[in-house]
Amino acid sequence: MSERTLVLIKPDGVDRGLTGEILRRVEAKGYRIAELKQLSASEDQLAAHYAEHQGKPFYQPLVDFMLSGPVVAAVVEGDEVIKGFRSLAGQTDPTVAAPGTIRGDLGRDWGEKVQKNLVHGSDSVESAEREISIWF
Ligand code: RTP
Ligand code: MG
Repeated sequence: MSERTLVLIKPDGVDRGLTGEILRRVEAKGYRIAELKQLSASEDQLAAHYAEHQGKPFYQPLVDFMLSGPVVAAVVEGDEVIKGFRSLAGQTDPTVAAPGTIRGDLGRDWGEKVQKNLVHGSDSVESAEREISIWF
């Protein structure tokens, strides 16, 4: 059975006008966009979504960043899409994310307390199902 993942285009991606470019890469890879919406995240959604990071030094800067503007949320489908989207996204730190990836081609360090790295992608089947229920 084909897999699902949650993709978020973070506020830096939306603000920089990269929504189309990021979704283009997802579709060009061959994945299907099953659900798509733009919204302003709530504090409750972010507390649930980032529960694993509560207590870390970047947690509050991360939440503040995610509240700083609209995000685009998508459910993306395809075989091995969880691993595949994380490969498209590249490493967390955009400075070292490989060229050819979303973060490597379109992102950089902006000298802030949190890495603004354009996208989120679920990291396991369990995370994907949990996260999809938070955003859809
Ligand atoms: P994501 O969950 O957003 O797909 O990214 P990820 O798995 O690559 O990274 P994760 O470790 O889950 O961290 C979540 C997000 O927190 C921000 N972060 N900033 N030291 C830092 O500046 C730092 N560490 C993490 C990033 O926005 C990261 O994507
Ligand atoms: Mg993560």
